Amino acid sequence: MAASSTAAEASAPVPVPPAGLKEDIAGLYDESSGVWERICGDHLHHGFYEPGDAASVPDVRRAQIRTIDEALAFAAVPDDPEKKPKTIVDVGCGIGGSSRYLARKYGAQCTGITLSRVQAERGNALTAAQCFSDKVSLQVADALDQPFPDGMFDLVWSMESGEHMPDKTKDIRTADWSENVAPFWPAMIKLSLSWKGLTSALTCGWKTIRGAMGILLLIQGYRKGLIKFTIITCRKPRAA
Ligand SMILES: C[S@@+](CC[C@H](N)C(=O)[O-])C[C@H]1O[C@@H](n2cnc3c(N)ncnc32)[C@H](O)[C@@H]1O
Repeated sequence: MAASSTAAEASAPVPVPPAGLKEDIAGLYDESSGVWERICGDHLHHGFYEPGDAASVPDVRRAQIRTIDEALAFAAVPDDPEKKPKTIVDVGCGIGGSSRYLARKYGAQCTGITLSRVQAERGNALTAAQCFSDKVSLQVADALDQPFPDGMFDLVWSMESGEHMPDKTKDIRTADWSENVAPFWPAMIKLSLSWKGLTSALTCGWKTIRGAMGILLLIQGYRKGLIKFTIITCRKPRAA
């Protein structure tokens, strides 16, 4: 999550995304979002746990919401009516779980962007079903080439989409949450082996199944300290 614009070093080379990366990301989420939604709902991100806690299946959603609240606290996003964010952009919004949560929490307008047309359409349908379309709207757009004018949003939110983006701005404050999120994947394995998970898996394509097999590697990676989950926040400079 980042309330943007303290710039990266002017001299730092800007990484060029590999050709076809955007299309691959869009294709992966077009294909796999339905199955993830059926298994664990509208949040497509890790849950947050006390270090060493084992995650139980009924806790998964609660832990995912906790991730959002912990990230808001980490970034010291103000709650008070004067200072709380009134306009939010959710960069890499998935099917809008965070967008709707943040819009409700702050009474804000939230615009979400994703590379996946399927996600944007599904997210907007979920929002409409909750009669919330006046507050939240998702669209297809590239975070690295955003269609918005500078300074349009009070809060720039980005949950687990930065890993797809080679060109990141300079980190201002970071913390290692690896221990807090590692219990999420064993819980996801249990969920995937449930009746709902297995029947959902039958309806999805090869990309999604290959991605799901990667969960075992994620578990090992967290255990061995090879994978790190980092939270990053930065703050817009105050207007002079
Ligand atoms: C793991 S999902 C996270 C979704 C959501 N933030 C959540 O927590 O439920 C990653 C998201 O990042 C989006 N994404 C990745 N690269 C992007 C880019 N360059 N521009 C916009 N969205 C991007 C994907 O389309 C997908 O919606």
